[in-house]
Amino acid sequence: MKFFLDTANIDEIREAAEYGLIDGVTTNPSLVSKEGRSFKEIITEIARIVDGPISAEVVSTDAAGMLAEAYDLAKIHENIVIKIPMIKEGMKALKQLTADGIHTNVTLVFSSNQALVAAKLGATYVSPFVGRFDDISQVGMELVADIAQIFSNYDFETQILVASCRNPLHIREAALLGAHVATMPYSVLEQLLKHPLTDIGLARFLKDWEKVTSAGKA
Ligand code: E4P
Repeated sequence: MKFFLDTANIDEIREAAEYGLIDGVTTNPSLVSKEGRSFKEIITEIARIVDGPISAEVVSTDAAGMLAEAYDLAKIHENIVIKIPMIKEGMKALKQLTADGIHTNVTLVFSSNQALVAAKLGATYVSPFVGRFDDISQVGMELVADIAQIFSNYDFETQILVASCRNPLHIREAALLGAHVATMPYSVLEQLLKHPLTDIGLARFLKDWEKVTSAGKA
């Protein structure tokens, strides 16, 4: 299972990259807007740090505009993945990008039929947004389970990129369902490493070790 970091913040990406845990990065217009820097500059810098797929989202709502943005973004680095919203015009652009051999991530997926359409058009990734479903009292992971079943029924190569992950349970459930990728904020990545019993256990070992050193037996 691959871990992508869901951020446009360079400091977070640098820090996470040091652990060697980051297989890629996803960004979106909202994340980019928090950084107060040029989009292309951010994407270029991310590509220097992370050797893996970097999703950069188009903001046009017509296919021609999306394609113009996509070709421009794809020039930045070979790892750029064009993030396309799951709308009709987006699907027109997706078909063309697939024919051009440009990697794509269909975003804002909220139904298994949307995922099926994107897979039929050759999307590299589909991004079901689990957290936003949970926000409205619908179990987001059920969508991931459905998509996983459908993709395996037909041997689609499109990868399931579980997005809008808000907590470590989302990562656990995505892994249990065999999702190819989970994208998460830095805070969730950090939570994956933590357990209070690990901290308590380490504190006890270190305290006991003091007895060994003070007795000169180390
Ligand atoms: C995914 O690619 C999106 O950028 C992201 O996961 C959305 O997360 P949110 O619902 O927490 O904004």
